[in-house]
Amino acid sequence: MDLNTIREKYIAHFKAQSHAVIPSASLVPENDPTTLFTGSGMQPLVPYLLGEVHPKGTRLVDSQKCFRSGDIEEVGDNRHTTFFEMLGNWSLGDYWKKEQLAWIYSFLTDELELDPQRLFVTVFAGDESLGIGKDVDSVEIWKSLFAEKNVSSETALMGSEEEGSKRGMKDGERIFFYNAEKNWWSRSGVPGNMPPGEPGGPDSEIFYQFDVEHNQAFGEHCHPNCDCGRYLEIGNSVFMQYLKNEDGTFKTLPKQNVDFGGGLERILMAVTNTPDIVAVSHAPIIAYLEQHSDKKYGDDEQTTKAFRIIADHMKAAVFLIAEGIYPSNTDQGYFVRRLIRRAVRYADMLGIQGGGCASVVKPIADMYGTVYPDIPAKRVEIENAVAHEDEKFRTTLARGLREFEKITGTTVTGKEAFLLFSTYGFPYEMTEELATERGMTVDVQEFKEEMKAHQDLSRAGSEQKFKSGLADTGEKTTMLHTCTHLLLAGLRKYLGEGVHQAGSNITPLRLRFDFTYPEKVPQDVLDKVEAYVNEVLTAHCAVETVILEKDEAKEKGVEGSFWEKYPDEVTVYSVVSDDGTVYSRELCGGPHVKNTGEIVGVFKIVKESSSSAGVRRIKAVLEP
Ligand code: SER
Repeated sequence: MDLNTIREKYIAHFKAQSHAVIPSASLVPENDPTTLFTGSGMQPLVPYLLGEVHPKGTRLVDSQKCFRSGDIEEVGDNRHTTFFEMLGNWSLGDYWKKEQLAWIYSFLTDELELDPQRLFVTVFAGDESLGIGKDVDSVEIWKSLFAEKNVSSETALMGSEEEGSKRGMKDGERIFFYNAEKNWWSRSGVPGNMPPGEPGGPDSEIFYQFDVEHNQAFGEHCHPNCDCGRYLEIGNSVFMQYLKNEDGTFKTLPKQNVDFGGGLERILMAVTNTPDIVAVSHAPIIAYLEQHSDKKYGDDEQTTKAFRIIADHMKAAVFLIAEGIYPSNTDQGYFVRRLIRRAVRYADMLGIQGGGCASVVKPIADMYGTVYPDIPAKRVEIENAVAHEDEKFRTTLARGLREFEKITGTTVTGKEAFLLFSTYGFPYEMTEELATERGMTVDVQEFKEEMKAHQDLSRAGSEQKFKSGLADTGEKTTMLHTCTHLLLAGLRKYLGEGVHQAGSNITPLRLRFDFTYPEKVPQDVLDKVEAYVNEVLTAHCAVETVILEKDEAKEKGVEGSFWEKYPDEVTVYSVVSDDGTVYSRELCGGPHVKNTGEIVGVFKIVKESSSSAGVRRIKAVLEP
C-alpha cells in the first residue's frame, strides 16, 4: 500500500456514507491573512464550522495539503516532516460521536486491516472549571466497538502527560482519559488560550503501537501520549461543539460538528508497521537519491538524516512552488528559500549526481501526478526555480564564507551566527561545523534567542508592520493597503513622476499616506485622484504579483521607495483591469486583496496637509 491507495480508500469509505468529496485548499490560506500557511485540515473549513452553509452539504471528506514551517529544524528524525496531507471528514451539524467513531474504526481495522490489538484511544477527562464533564459517551461507543473485535477495553485515568508517564499502562487498558492539554482541540490549543469567538471541543485520538521498546529518556513508563516512538497518533476526532464567549466561558455552537483529521503519511507508517515516516512516505525520492549517489538510506546516522532532509524539503518546496510561491526573502517565499538551501547543502554532502536538487523534482512529480496534476504540468518551471535558487545559494555562500573569515576570537556570537543565517543563508549547523574546524565555538543560546525573535515575527506575519506600515493584516487593513497603492498611482498621474511614498500607516479605519511633493495639492487634483481610485474599485481589477530581479524591476519602471531595503529579488504588485490597463505597479511585501472588487465602500480623501518639508500627508477612508 502507498499514499495514493490509502487516500483513495479513505475517500471511498466516507463517500459510501454520503460524504461529498471536496478538493484540498491551497497551502497559502486564501482569506486568512493571519497565518502564512495551511497547517491543518480544519483551517479552510472554519467558516463552515462556525455555521456558514457549505455548498456541498453537511458531510464532507477531503485530503488537505499542509505545511508546518515550525518543524523545519526538526526534520531529520524518523517522525517529523514539514509537508504532509491530512485526511479529513466533516460533519457540519450532521452526524455525531456514534457514527464518527464507528466509521473511522472500521476504516482502520476493516479497510486497512490494522491489527485491533495495536490500536489504543484517548478521550477527554473533563474540566470542572469549564463545566464540561468526562467524555463518557465516547467511552461507551469505544467499548462496544472493541467488543466487536474481541479486544480488551479497560479504561484508565491519566490526566497530564507527566502523570501518564508516572502511572504507565496496565494489561487490558485501551481507553485513556487525558486532560485538555491532550484531548481538547482548537486552533489555539487549550481552552484558556482560545480567543473569544474561537470554536473548539473535546477530542478522541487513536494511537498505533509499534514494536519499539520504551525509551526512559522520555519518562519512567510508556503511555499513548509518550514521545518515545512506541505510540503514534494516527487520527483525531474532534467534537467541535463549543464556542468561547467574550467573558471566557463557553457556549455550545448552534450546530455540533465533527472534525476528523488523520495524517496520511502516519497512517501509512501504521499500515506498513514501520516507525519511520520518510522510509515509507518518501520511498520514491529515497530510491532516486540512492541511485544518484553512492550512499544508501540507513548507512549511518548522518547519511540517513541527509536523505530525510532532502526528501522532506524538496517535497515541500515542490508543492509550494507549484502554488506560485517562489524563493524570496519575505513571507512564504522565505520558507521556500530555506527549504531549498538546506536541501542543497545536504545534497552536496551526499554527493548527488546529475542535476542536483532540481533533478529531485521529477520523482516527486511522478509520485503525486495522478492526484495533483499541476505538479507534473509545472515540472519544468519548478525545476528552473530550484536550479536558480541553488545557483544563488552558492554565490551567497561564497560571500558568507568571506564574512565568516572576518570573525575573530574564539566564539562566534549568536548575533553573528544569525547574520550568517539570515543574510548569507548559512544553516546553523554549517556555522557550527565551520567553527569547529577552526577551533571556535558558537553561542547557540544567543543564536536561538535571535532565531526565536525572528520566527515570532514571521509567524505573526507582522513583518508587514514596518515594511508597509500596516497595523495588522485584517481584512479592512488589507483593503486600505491596496487603496494606498492606487492613491499613489493617482497622485503620480496628476502631479507627476516626482511623487514617491515617504511613509505609510494603515489601521482598519483609515489610511495615512506621506508622499514627496513641495506644495499644497489643489482640491481639483484631490478630486481627480479620488475618482481614479474609485474607478479602479468599480472596474474589479485583478491584483497580480510577480517576483523580479531588482534591476529588472527598476528598468521596467516599477514604482518603489526604499529599494535598498529590499532583497535581490522583489515582489511587484500590479493592479490590472480585464482589458490589460495597468493602474498601479509597485514594489511591496503585501498583503493585498486579490481583486479590487473585494474592496467594500467608496474611497474618500478626508484630509490633505503638510507632513514635513517637501512631504505632504493624506488621510483617506473607505466610506460604507
Ligand atoms: N483539527 C484536528 C487536527 O488538526 C483534526 O482535524 O488535529
